[in-house]
Amino acid sequence: MLNFNFYSPTEFVFGKGRAAEAGHFVKKYGGTKVLIHYGGGSAVKSGLIDTVKKSLDDAGIPYCELGGVKPNPRDTLVYKGIELCRAEGVDFILAVGGGSVIDSSKAIAVGVPYDGDFWDMYSGKPVEKALPVATVLTIAAAGSEGSGDSVITKEDGMLKRGTGSDLLRPRFSIMDPSLTQTLPAYQTACGATDIMAHVFERYFTNTTEVEITDRLCEAVLLTMVKETPRVIADPDNYEARANIMWAGTVAHTNLCGVGREQDWNSHGIEHELSGLYDVAHGAGLAVIMPAWMEYVHGHNVMRFCQMATRVFGCQMNYENPEATALEGIRRFRSFLKSIGMPINFTELGAKEEDIPTLVEKFGIGDGTTGGFMKLNRNDITEIYRIAAHASL
Ligand code: NZQ
Ligand code: ZN
Repeated sequence: MLNFNFYSPTEFVFGKGRAAEAGHFVKKYGGTKVLIHYGGGSAVKSGLIDTVKKSLDDAGIPYCELGGVKPNPRDTLVYKGIELCRAEGVDFILAVGGGSVIDSSKAIAVGVPYDGDFWDMYSGKPVEKALPVATVLTIAAAGSEGSGDSVITKEDGMLKRGTGSDLLRPRFSIMDPSLTQTLPAYQTACGATDIMAHVFERYFTNTTEVEITDRLCEAVLLTMVKETPRVIADPDNYEARANIMWAGTVAHTNLCGVGREQDWNSHGIEHELSGLYDVAHGAGLAVIMPAWMEYVHGHNVMRFCQMATRVFGCQMNYENPEATALEGIRRFRSFLKSIGMPINFTELGAKEEDIPTLVEKFGIGDGTTGGFMKLNRNDITEIYRIAAHASL
């Protein structure tokens, strides 16, 4: 196991009806003027925004609001948010929504105290200052409610890029699983795929003797394999929703990833897809992650056998371990298909002829990237090709 620091200062406020406590927690964490930031309308329609406003009113905390965050959140709205916060003297940002709203909030939080263009921090400059952010989560997916990461798309060129800093970890995150009951099945499945991908990015490692994190990863994956079909079949199943919601947070606070080298190539490769085609991140991962697995499994066949046997219930074939590894990957892809995810370019709405553009945008030049198996641009091209034609 490698040396590590684990810093996860977020207070998670979990359970039914807890959004009504938003005002109390803003006060606890020192907010005196709040920006309520939200998306395209689901949180307004469900009455959640009214609940949050009432809670702030009750706590005597003034606020302004900015809706309209799109999935794959854009820099253009971030600039508006920064201006609004400066004009209104906002000192605390409350994201009410999913990963896109939270990431947009984090970008505004970075931009308000910064003298230049906030995009600098999405182009490699470290975050040195940020307003405090908190969340009321409405979808189990990105894990942004517990992470220090934020991913924003620059509308000019549809360039999707991220930043990360412990300064961006939310002060608190309110997580009421019943809020996720209004999600369309497709979004629920996209979220589930993202959660599993966050674990796999950490599970496939060259670090040995990481039993504790291996087992934590497998617990999250087994939970997702069990609970996702339950909520797809019965969207109002609170208990299954609750398990998935907490799994989404555990998957991405880095609790499952400490002490080990991590990969993250599938996310990088996917971000070019959701950047170019504006598709849901989870759907893009359903196409890319099994393709990446197929391409790299030979790097450590036994690790893929571990996934196959422990997560997907495969029998170990000791004479032909590769067959076990490939069967595990096949079962993963089949699981994704069964929950309604696309598994190839056609189903996603991507085009094979765009592969050179995707590779170009990925932008590694002649270098390599990734923590499990280093990939160069030819490897990445090959993974996009596998993804383009994948079938069961
Ligand atoms: O905009 P509204 O109307 O709210 O609709 C949203 C949106 O259309 C809808 N939705 C959310 N909660 C709902 C609901 N509809 C009905 N009922 C509810 N309770 O769902 C759609 C998707 O929302 P979005 O926030 O985009 O989903 P998600 O949480 O998957 O976030 C995706 C974004 O997060 C980034 C992704 O790249 C993508 O841009 N990621 C962020 C990470 C992080 N910050 O740590 C890590 C991830 O790997 C990921 O890259
Ligand atoms: Zn993700």
